Amino acid sequence: MEPRTSPEVGGMGHSLKRKEDPRFIRGKGTYVDDVQLPGMLYLDIVRSPYAHAKIVKIDSSKALAVPGVLAVITGQDLARYNLHWMPTLMSDTQMVLPVEKVMYQAQEVAAVLATSRYAAADGAAAVQVEYDPLPVVVDPHKALEPGAPVLRTDKKDKKDNHIWHWEWGDRAATEREFAGADVKVKQDIYIPRIHVASIETCGCIAHFDKVNDKLTVWMTTQAPHAIRTVFALVAGHVGLAEHKIRIISPDIGGGFGGKVPVYPGYVIAVAASVLTGKPVKWIEDRMENLQADSFARDYHITAELAAKRDGTLTALRIKTLADHGYADAAANPSKFPAGLFHVCTGSYDLKAAHVEVDGAYTNKPPGGIAYRCSFRVTEAVHTIERMADLMAHELGMDPAEFRMKNFVKPEQFPYKSALGWEYDSGNYHGALRKAMDTIGYAELRREQADKRARGQLMGIGISSFTEIVGAGPSKHFDILGLKMFDSCEMRIHPTGKAIARFGTKSQGQGHETTYAQILAEELGIPAKDIQVEEGDTDTAPYGLGTYASRSTPVAGAAAAVAARKIRDKARKIAAHLLEVAEEDLEWEPGKFSVKGAPGKSKTIQDIAFAAYTNHPQGMEAGLEAVSYYDPPNLTYPFGSYICVVDIDTGTGEVKVRRFVAIDDCGNIINPMIVQGQVHGGLTMGLAPALYEEISYDENGNVQGGSFIDYLLPTAVETPKWETGHTVTPSPHHPLGAKGVGESATVGAPAAIANAVVDAMWHLGVRHVDIPITPAKVWKLLRQHGVTD
Ligand code: CDP
Repeated sequence: MEPRTSPEVGGMGHSLKRKEDPRFIRGKGTYVDDVQLPGMLYLDIVRSPYAHAKIVKIDSSKALAVPGVLAVITGQDLARYNLHWMPTLMSDTQMVLPVEKVMYQAQEVAAVLATSRYAAADGAAAVQVEYDPLPVVVDPHKALEPGAPVLRTDKKDKKDNHIWHWEWGDRAATEREFAGADVKVKQDIYIPRIHVASIETCGCIAHFDKVNDKLTVWMTTQAPHAIRTVFALVAGHVGLAEHKIRIISPDIGGGFGGKVPVYPGYVIAVAASVLTGKPVKWIEDRMENLQADSFARDYHITAELAAKRDGTLTALRIKTLADHGYADAAANPSKFPAGLFHVCTGSYDLKAAHVEVDGAYTNKPPGGIAYRCSFRVTEAVHTIERMADLMAHELGMDPAEFRMKNFVKPEQFPYKSALGWEYDSGNYHGALRKAMDTIGYAELRREQADKRARGQLMGIGISSFTEIVGAGPSKHFDILGLKMFDSCEMRIHPTGKAIARFGTKSQGQGHETTYAQILAEELGIPAKDIQVEEGDTDTAPYGLGTYASRSTPVAGAAAAVAARKIRDKARKIAAHLLEVAEEDLEWEPGKFSVKGAPGKSKTIQDIAFAAYTNHPQGMEAGLEAVSYYDPPNLTYPFGSYICVVDIDTGTGEVKVRRFVAIDDCGNIINPMIVQGQVHGGLTMGLAPALYEEISYDENGNVQGGSFIDYLLPTAVETPKWETGHTVTPSPHHPLGAKGVGESATVGAPAAIANAVVDAMWHLGVRHVDIPITPAKVWKLLRQHGVTD
């Protein structure tokens, strides 16, 4: 799309340099740990070495003797105020500090308050805890077996470890399609537990001002307003009313969903500040962050796909066991315990589908966050894209041809999926065709055949994914009852400069730039003249925050609507200034002119000045508006990715040689930022595909709890991404835009896994679970006689 505004105005379609970058690249950002307050105290946390154990005794005497240590806070202390448990976002409960037993390794056991971070750490090391170990359950399948130890003994009526059962779709119709199908494929797929591993760990500074009865919390949160409400609901009984709570979310060093939940450390810091009247800082270290914060994925899936002999797909059936750790603390809309997993029919036109998910408790940290995907969409996409490849190979069809045959066709949009979603728009054939042209698909297949004849292993993998972002229409989407709208409040100053505040919170996505571009597009005020603010609940309008790529679809739409309200008022003022009727005016970005007399015009800056100096009699002064936008539907970005891998038959190492990513996020606000989002997202897709996993031994000891063995890809491992896009505007979004922040993370792993299986299909390999480590591949190569 050609930009409508000039580069100086910098509306949609301009690759404006990010406004926030000068402070970031000079090290002048303000992250929570940069905030220093006079008289600040420090908190450190004592954590459990056991995955399941009774707490027999906590002896604080040695810790209290450490110079600088002021107090040791235990679950018993919090229990006096009924703050030792807290609700999770999924209406389960989670311990702040335990009174009776611990439920996972690295769980918070006690907290030490001291005058310095070092004293707090020394104090934490000196707290002596006596434990009585209990049987540990790490496997969710075993957790559901009869006779398994019941983990949630705090829930009086709970007799097993089953959390919930959820199902969606038409079971009978799906069974009928399977019964009549020519070809069926079935596969167990495990999508392992991973962590967002953002550069900045979590932390906060809680400051309770006893004189003014006001609590201010600087906090690493992606959803400051919702957090304020949750704090007020949980701690109202100890006197924390919502108007006396201010949450400030300063610069955030990556969130990716991991900074949505409330962690015990936040609550303990608040309690410590309320009790002492002093500011209390708590900042996690890297290992605490990896071992104790909310995880993502951990889905054990069995999927089945049915088709006709000619390759026409008919039905999908999925059963999933979701490992939630010891509490269901997933960050999902309340109505959907398995998030939006039922977008698992993907880009394909199926007659019927049925999906079942069961949640189980285990002795692991709680969570199930939407890690750079809108609520379990990565799991859904990985499943359907792996299954599509499996079916194509089973039928002896080329995976690209098979997809083209089964895609929802452009003319079918808006398309109602077999599981009830209304896809707003799409052109899946266009995206795949572009990806195939870019990578030279036919030539690659020839190369593969040649190499195969010479005993070399080369694979080509496709992932044609459909995302679902922009939660959400409030009739379906809420979190703890809070409807998932979002907001923009814009105020134009007399000199034509402006400030706009939002209910979302950027964690590196560049909102200060792109929101300004949306407003520039709508009003013609240069983006550089619009200051964008987010993250302070005392100033920003209420919103549900930034995760699940919802900022552009929801708050971006709110920006457009607020700007259009301002334009309506600006039209009235322009009519007054030009002494014509409103209908006689026409708008072009930045000014109103009299129809047929383009010389007679008023710029938005003229109008802003008049709004304070010369507005019509009876009109209120000022030029401002607010919008709380409730989207009519979600947006459905999509893309086609093609990956080429070479496998070293000696070591089992997989090398991604090429990776072409064609994304479609509708109309693009800032092409450079979108490309950056895709590059980062692809690397975050490569990571779980080849490297990252958090697993546990049978005693519940975490493996992958530090960066020594939780393998983040660096620039060395990351291939050169080749990106491009198609544009299919969303018909219902005011700007035709869809979200993009997560597409690449959602779409990439399946392309890589499909390429690896494609390389080894002729050997008899049908599936390999991610992360596809050299050891796994080498084992397969040995099994199939390729290496010894
Ligand atoms: O909610 P979050 O900001 O993580 O995700 P998003 O709405 O997908 O936006 C990520 C970044 O890409 C933001 O800076 C958006 O403004 C930008 N973007 C864009 O320029 N054009 C789009 N069509 C979608 C997103």
